[in-house]
Amino acid sequence: MIKLKRTFELFYFSAPTAWPHRFAGSSAFARYASSDASLRNEINDEGFKGHDMLAPFTAGWQTSDLNPLVIAKSEGSYVYDTSGKKYLDSLAGLWCTSLGGSEPRLIDAAAKQLSTLPFYHSFWNRTTKPSLDLAKELLDMFTASKMAKVFFTNSGSEANDTQVKLVWYYNNALGRPNKKKFIAREKSYHGSTLIAASLSGLPALHQKFDLPAPFVLHTDCPHYWRYHLPGETEEDFSTRLANNLEELIIKEGPETVAAFIAEPVMGAGGVIPPPATYFEKIQAVVKKYDILFIADEVICAFGRLGTMFGCDKYNIKPDLVSIAKALSSGYMPIGAVLVSPEVSDVIYSQSNKLGTFSHGFTYSGHPVSCAVALETLKIYKERNIVDRVKSLSPKFQDGVKAFSDSPIIGEIRGTGLIIGTEFADNKSPTNPFPPEWGVGAYFGAQCEKHGMLVRVAGDNIMMCPPFIITPEELDELISTYGKALKATEERVKELKDQKK
Ligand SMILES: Cc1ncc(COP(=O)(O)O)c(C=O)c1O
Repeated sequence: MIKLKRTFELFYFSAPTAWPHRFAGSSAFARYASSDASLRNEINDEGFKGHDMLAPFTAGWQTSDLNPLVIAKSEGSYVYDTSGKKYLDSLAGLWCTSLGGSEPRLIDAAAKQLSTLPFYHSFWNRTTKPSLDLAKELLDMFTASKMAKVFFTNSGSEANDTQVKLVWYYNNALGRPNKKKFIAREKSYHGSTLIAASLSGLPALHQKFDLPAPFVLHTDCPHYWRYHLPGETEEDFSTRLANNLEELIIKEGPETVAAFIAEPVMGAGGVIPPPATYFEKIQAVVKKYDILFIADEVICAFGRLGTMFGCDKYNIKPDLVSIAKALSSGYMPIGAVLVSPEVSDVIYSQSNKLGTFSHGFTYSGHPVSCAVALETLKIYKERNIVDRVKSLSPKFQDGVKAFSDSPIIGEIRGTGLIIGTEFADNKSPTNPFPPEWGVGAYFGAQCEKHGMLVRVAGDNIMMCPPFIITPEELDELISTYGKALKATEERVKELKDQKK
């Protein structure tokens, strides 16, 4: 039973905190555990006394009642737990280990930097060569719009928090003290620090944290399948959403709205690519009211969508960009904000008046993280990573989407090497399965049983394998997905029969 319960950790964006207890104690769960002998055999947690970490995005009861899945080793597209069980890591860690789990050049880059200069900061115009080189490299690489400066952080959340401070500083410098509101989208994920969680459009990140902060507004989620009106085309849907955004701006007062933030493809909210013409129409509205556009490229950057940046794919011309994750292939913590010349010029003139630009972290531009990131970017170029993703993408997308006809799947959606599956009854967005059935959790547990790790959030399944995944490993991914789906279909049928 314990092994099965662990899969609920993956519910972290959607499950009410008390819900897993109810589910675990329910007869449905007992049946589930007892009906699958192989899973039952894996239950070996007797005497487990909990662990000592206040674990991120994990329910309290899990750390006190359940053995965590302890990953001990990684190799290429695979990770291994402490018992030696091998898993295909179809989430690339947490959407980040783009070069897999054992790239020797990244390990060497870190070791070399550690042995020459393990740390020096970047405050007061002191800095290190890796951070200067990385800033230059990033400005060369990002071509969707001109960027002039790079600010380094340790994570995507810090990057998005920094965005808010930069935008406020910018508008204060321009003598627009009221232009401070941010518009983000329902179901977006921008991180979990105070401001990044406020920007995120997922209720679980706000509940009981006294969030979102009052300056954050949320507009429509651009999920065509779920939210389009009868007969509405994708283009019409995009027009309606752009009109809604404009109405919101007018209602709030354009002079109070500072910035709009969006992921090119929404990631943790369920992998939601934009509908046709969406960004074209949204950008026109934002521009009309002198509102800055922030592209949160934390998941999409560096090839994930089959273009170097998500902005390239959707013709987005941002004023500011957030990056992290694949910037270092997840090997070292690092994030960054790219700043346009228009914004950085104003920030410079303001800080010249004030004497300093008082924002930064001890580890902004950490030399080891920057050295690893530089090597990562070098590898992306040498190995034509964008072309590689483009050539793998049809096999991945078509292979998984071939399961779209399953009676328990509502929609499979994705692009490049990122894909989401949404379970629904009768293939309808308005017919979710009862949450206590744990359909997504069951699928996740089945994947785990067959040696693959996916991301589960309610009845949404997300996958974004490393860029180095091979065609044979993609076959394995698709085959494991198929096995897990078959078992989940049988489980749903069983539950439906019991309901009759
Ligand atoms: C789009 C996006 N922005 C920001 C973040 C936050 O990044 P971090 O977890 O590094 O703080 C994430 C994390 O998944 C993300 O997907």
